[in-house]
Amino acid sequence: LDYSPELGGIIYKVASLARKVGGISFAGGYPDPELFDADGLAAAYNAVFQDGFRASLQYGDREGYRRLRERIATLSSTPERAVTYDEVIVANGGQQGIATATAVLARPGDWVYTEAPTFPTALHVFHQAGLQGAAIACDGDGMIPEVLEAALKRQRARLVYVMPSYSNPAGALWTLERRLRVLELAVEYDFHLIEDDPYGLLWFDAPPPPTLLSLAARVPGARERLIHVSSFSKTIAPGLRTGWMIPPAKLREAFVHVKLGTDIHSALPSQYAIDRYFGAGGFDAHLPVIRATYGERAAAMGAAIRAHLGERLEYVAPKGGMFFWCRMRSGGDARALMAAAEREKVFFVPGVAFYPGNADAATFRMSFATTPVDGIVEGMRRLARVVPGG
Ligand SMILES: Cc1ncc(COP(=O)(O)O)c(C=O)c1O
Repeated sequence: LDYSPELGGIIYKVASLARKVGGISFAGGYPDPELFDADGLAAAYNAVFQDGFRASLQYGDREGYRRLRERIATLSSTPERAVTYDEVIVANGGQQGIATATAVLARPGDWVYTEAPTFPTALHVFHQAGLQGAAIACDGDGMIPEVLEAALKRQRARLVYVMPSYSNPAGALWTLERRLRVLELAVEYDFHLIEDDPYGLLWFDAPPPPTLLSLAARVPGARERLIHVSSFSKTIAPGLRTGWMIPPAKLREAFVHVKLGTDIHSALPSQYAIDRYFGAGGFDAHLPVIRATYGERAAAMGAAIRAHLGERLEYVAPKGGMFFWCRMRSGGDARALMAAAEREKVFFVPGVAFYPGNADAATFRMSFATTPVDGIVEGMRRLARVVPGG
């Protein structure tokens, strides 16, 4: 696994440099704090202070607060596949789901396959666990199943880590066919799939195809090999550190044991407040606001790239999530572009941070989530002054 904490740390370095220098930053992977429903969440915390506060201060169930698990089960259910609360384990963000799945399932030297490019903090977990890994080629429709199968024929994998809906960083949306084919491959080649889905609810015009969790009902044997992970970080607020993991039934106890050894259980006041927030209708009312705002910003970024950068960049316009993934047609290294862009006070993350090896250095990631439309347009004008080939 060609990953180092320094490489993964580029994101945080660029994001903090951007904060220091000022200017326009597309670097962070943060949701827009202006979109946190602070009033709605304050009301939810107040409701906890009025009723249930003492209970929320005590140790609770290791799997999480029952009422929140029920909310998560409902949120994760589809007509095809009803999720029940006892399948859900509340976690400290989706990140703990990735870490727990890795601790339960993988041993040093085991292989993990990811998308190319992929989420660096997942690579961080695989690196810490001593895994070997490689990235599987993707296109605008997601991971290419034929490439995954060819890799599996050469080298079986213990884990395959994927983000089928609006991935970080590629913004890719997998087709239904590819989702089903990768579930079949999990059964045929006997690996465990980690489906990481923090962005699935952040669609712009139309919802994504069903999750792997839902589709596993169609592929015999797939549910036993699927760990679904998700989070309220991008839909409510990341500081609450509340996400969840939905492992197969036979692994549930092992997941709870690893979590017990890590933190006993996730902090309860956040869980109570999120439950009350759902109960007051806050979640359902606020989600469309986030979708509309990010959708507008994504459209503005696409239009500004077309207007100011024309043919100089390759990209697939995202249909949800927070990211544009771009590639300089002229090739070259986005780290050099970053140095030039810094002089224009515009920031993004070079693509090398997102690969477990064989990085395409001409790529880079831009988040449109935290910048209003005016800033996005100005940012693309500035970028147009430094991207080669103009
Ligand atoms: C794909 C993906 N997975 C997991 C996470 C971790 O999120 P959290 O632990 O806050 O839920 C992120 C955060 O950026 C992400 O982009």
